[in-house]
Amino acid sequence: MIKGILFDLDGVLLSTDQFHFQAWKALADRLAIPFDRRQGDRCRGISRMESLDIVLENSTRTYTPEEKLQFAEEKNHAYRAFLQGLTPADVPEETVRVLTQLRIRGYRLALASGSKNAELILEKTGLCSLLDGVVDGRDITRSKPDPEVFCKAAQALGLSPRDCVGVDDASAGVQSIRAAGALAAAIGPAAQAGEGDWNLKSLSQLLERCPGMEAVLCR
Ligand code: G6P
Ligand code: MG
Repeated sequence: MIKGILFDLDGVLLSTDQFHFQAWKALADRLAIPFDRRQGDRCRGISRMESLDIVLENSTRTYTPEEKLQFAEEKNHAYRAFLQGLTPADVPEETVRVLTQLRIRGYRLALASGSKNAELILEKTGLCSLLDGVVDGRDITRSKPDPEVFCKAAQALGLSPRDCVGVDDASAGVQSIRAAGALAAAIGPAAQAGEGDWNLKSLSQLLERCPGMEAVLCR
């Protein structure tokens, strides 16, 4: 029985995935390396340094580990500049409505994000007030598709992953949810590719799949 819902952040609760793309694109442009949306989609869910390898894959030269660290720093600086402008108004009305309704229905909700910038986003948008637990990139040692982040998010709610559904827009995220033993709800690109146990067209569709606890108990 589903008692908890574990949400990825970027590209699920709000569109910070676009800021990731724009910040990587700015770095790629400066280095004169072609970088397109398809590559941007491959960066979803994976770590900053793994994303950098995708950005650099069309480069004609190789870079030292020190140069790579500096590029990752440059991207993160540009990304955080976008985040500084976030306000509660940037959270889609649908996100607030769905999270609020799921809590009224009796589900416990947690964040399961691989981002080390999640705290800044939660602070700027006020999203933390809608969550019962938060696990982010600073709490984990292995990034998605490893199950660590979803296992810890379930644990933060005092639940087994088997009693949870995870929601993610990335292939790496869906694999992470499955490896944790939770039910995988894909959204965005991962849903379009049919990768989830549930493939959601919008976050609102969670409300069709997750009825009130009384309804579940009466079945
Ligand atoms: C999320 C995003 C990825 C990003 C990762 C690390 O999983 O989907 O695109 O690479 O977080 O984000 P960070 O903010 O720590 O660089
Ligand atoms: Mg995501």
